This record gives sequence, C-alpha cells and structure tokens, in this order.
Amino acid sequence: MTQELWTEVDRYIVDRLVPHDDALEATLQASKVARLPSINVAPNQGKLLNLLALATRARSVLEIGTLGGYSTIWLARALGPGGRLITLEADPRHAAVAEANIAGAGLSDVVRIIVGPASESLPRLAAENGPGFDFVFIDADKANTTEYFAWSLRLSHIGTLIVVDNAVRGGKLVDPATDDPDVRGMQRFVDALASEPRVSATVVQTVGSKGHDGFLLALVIAENQ
Ligand code: SAH
Ligand code: DHB
Ligand code: MG
Repeated sequence: MTQELWTEVDRYIVDRLVPHDDALEATLQASKVARLPSINVAPNQGKLLNLLALATRARSVLEIGTLGGYSTIWLARALGPGGRLITLEADPRHAAVAEANIAGAGLSDVVRIIVGPASESLPRLAAENGPGFDFVFIDADKANTTEYFAWSLRLSHIGTLIVVDNAVRGGKLVDPATDDPDVRGMQRFVDALASEPRVSATVVQTVGSKGHDGFLLALVIAENQ
C-alpha cells in the first residue's frame, strides 16, 4: 500500500508539474533497452536537481555517476550559455549509452563524459581545473562517497552546492549493525560531515516511485584551508 501510494503521488506531481520531454523519455527508454539498471533519479527528482542548479546559477557542474545520462541531462539543461558539465562514469557500457542520450538531447557540446573510476578521474580533474565547480552531484558507488566528497570540496568554492543521492536507503542509515557496504559508506560520510567546518549540510528524506531514500545537501561556506 505505502509504495503504491508514493508512486501514485509521484505520478500526480509529474503529470502536473514535470512537462513531457522527448529527450528525457527517450533516455529512459534507451537505458531500458540497453538493460542498464533502473536506478536513475525519478523525474520529479531530476527536476529538483535542475531547479537547484538554476537557483545556484550554476555555470559548471560536476557529476559523479552518469549511468545513462538521465540526471546529467536534467542538470545540463539548467546551465546558461557557455555552461559546462563534466560527468564521471566507471562503466564504458553505461558511458556509451549516456553519450548517445546526451547527443539526442542536443547537449554534446555542453557535457564531457570521463570514463574510468572516479577515484582516478578526480585527482586528474583537480590537477587541471581552475576555479572549481558551482554545483556537484554525487551518485556513484556509495561506499566511496566520503572520498568523492573530499575531492568535490577541493574542486569547489564558497557557494558551491554539493548534492548526494541515496543518503537514507529505506532508513538503513540509522542501523548501526548494517553490513551493507553502501549504507556503511553513507554513515561514515555523514559522520565525517559532522566535523567538516567548510560546509553546512542537511539530509532530506524522500519517498516516491524510487522508494524511501534521501538527498544530502551541503553548501560550501568557507574556503579550503
Ligand atoms: N546519476 C544517474 C544514476 C547513477 S547510478 C541518474 O540519476 O541518472 C550510479 C553509476 O555510478 C553507475 O552507472 C555506475 O556504473 C557508476 N559507478 C559505480 N562505481 C563508480 C566509480 N568507482 N567511478 C565512477 N562511476 C561509478
Ligand atoms: C542504487 C544506486 C542509485 O544511485 C540509486 O539512486 C538507487 C539504487 C543501487 O545501487 O542499488
Ligand atoms: Mg542514485
């Protein structure tokens, strides 16, 4: 009953507030045909990412975890002229599907996909990137979120908004005995954030078509030391 109701409410919201979009729908269809896991953000969550990027007037976005490019397209759509999005993806098969989807959305000139483990791409980006990203979305292997966040901070500036997906995982976040490495990774990350003076953070729980989960939001409020 509960999941059914959450899904129905999501449908109600999407029907009214998330306009039909050929490229985004084609992206989900192509991802399904290519048998990618159905772990993209929900449409109303994609629109939330889009609104957050708009609200922060993001011109440069870093995404960790591309999959088929669904969240990528939502975020890239928020960028003004000259905007840039770099997205990191370990699986070349996912990256190939994403590349085609991003081309279908007319965003090939905006989005650069870097294929390879984020733990290797991030240090390279840190070496090459100047001013830092305005917005970061972390949505890859959850066990390494703490490390990805540390690199994201290095690649940020005051005012950068860092959003992390899957922070609650059906409530398993509060289970001290969990042996799920993804959940342990998120617990370690939240604990690390509690003593990170450079950001102000919160977690908002979500329910909907993707179950019970949550977004962690961290705003960079002080310079790197
Ligand atoms: N952001 C996407 C969903 C990402 S799913 C959306 O909402 O549409 C998580 C992705 O992270 C998967 O494609 C997976 O292959 C990728 N991933 C897993 N481990 C990774 C790693 N070490 N480095 C980069 N990407 C990784
Ligand atoms: C999983 C990963 C995600 O990024 C997500 O949003 C949902 C589920 C997963 O690995 O199960
Ligand atoms: Mg996710």
